[in-house]
Amino acid sequence: MTQHFTLTLLPGDGIGPEIMAVAVDVLKAIAPQFDLAFTLQEALIGGSAIDEVGTPLPEATLDRCRQSDAVLLAAIGGYKWDSLPRAQRPETGLLGLRAGLGLFANLRPAKILPQLLDASSLKAEVVEGVDIMVVRELTGGIYFGQPKGLFATETGEQRGVNTMAYTSSEIDRIGKVAFEAAQKRQGRLCSVDKANVLEVSQLWRDRITALGVDYPNVELSHMYVDNAAMQLLRWPKQFDTIVTGNLFGDILSDAAAMLTGSIGMLPSASLGESGPGVFEPVHGSAPDIAGEDKANPLAQVLSAAMMLRYGLDQPAAADKIEAAVMAVLNQGYRTGDIMATGMTPVGCKAMGEALLRALS
Ligand code: IPM
Ligand code: MG
Repeated sequence: MTQHFTLTLLPGDGIGPEIMAVAVDVLKAIAPQFDLAFTLQEALIGGSAIDEVGTPLPEATLDRCRQSDAVLLAAIGGYKWDSLPRAQRPETGLLGLRAGLGLFANLRPAKILPQLLDASSLKAEVVEGVDIMVVRELTGGIYFGQPKGLFATETGEQRGVNTMAYTSSEIDRIGKVAFEAAQKRQGRLCSVDKANVLEVSQLWRDRITALGVDYPNVELSHMYVDNAAMQLLRWPKQFDTIVTGNLFGDILSDAAAMLTGSIGMLPSASLGESGPGVFEPVHGSAPDIAGEDKANPLAQVLSAAMMLRYGLDQPAAADKIEAAVMAVLNQGYRTGDIMATGMTPVGCKAMGEALLRALS
């Protein structure tokens, strides 16, 4: 029996529409092979939403996302909107989407593909076999804590304030996601904090430690964030699953991503307690190459695979897409960001065509 899913597509800005087009072609190709039917609806977010309706996250977009089974997002932002007031910045739209859908858990896998070993800036022996899952808390911490804002002091100075705050229930729910992720992986979880300095991190460490009792098959360790940044570069293979707060996760997930050589290859999933998840590449909107058919669509395509796996419970379809990505890499196709000698340079569209051939 055919399974129907309604998907909201948010192409966003910069290279977003180009890479989304490839992912949509892939989804359309895969659907009949697994007896799936997708109803695709597009909505505005980020800079393109600012241009069209004056706000980075129109209410209609949030409604549409809430009414769908999953959301596939490309990328937002660009120079053009960088100097707008914060409420009208593309990034504010993305944060509003995360908060509006309650997407507290952000899964960011960083896995080295053997085909791209040489793309890493680290020695092959250091990165070979790296397979890390960063579980980042996404709707709390310093990104959302109160008070926040710009205030005037008594002496007439300006004072910028953000607050890093976590409640025990916020820590517990992300902790559970991370322990469960670790259980499905190599069973090792490293919780990253700054408990030597921050009270909020002390609570984080206490709660994660307490939670660990329920997961005796997961080997739990703790690490300070500064050391974690160093260890990720020194010997990344020591990590399996990492769990951390919003800001530390933002930073460490970029570092983990770059171990793989190209951020253009990495997908992510943002999930809530229930309701639709948002699936998006880790990379940004790359306004410098937008519209030039140079973008690497593979992170977007792998995000569609993550959507099938984690959002729609269609692991076989996800496997097939991931296999097609491996196939085109094995055939030697490379966009500029992952180009190496002897390989076949292709643009975004041609990479999409190669994927469709691999899927047929
Ligand atoms: C990310 C990005 C966002 C973040 C920005 C664009 C708001 O860096 O998804 O990692 O800081 O969370
Ligand atoms: Mg980031």
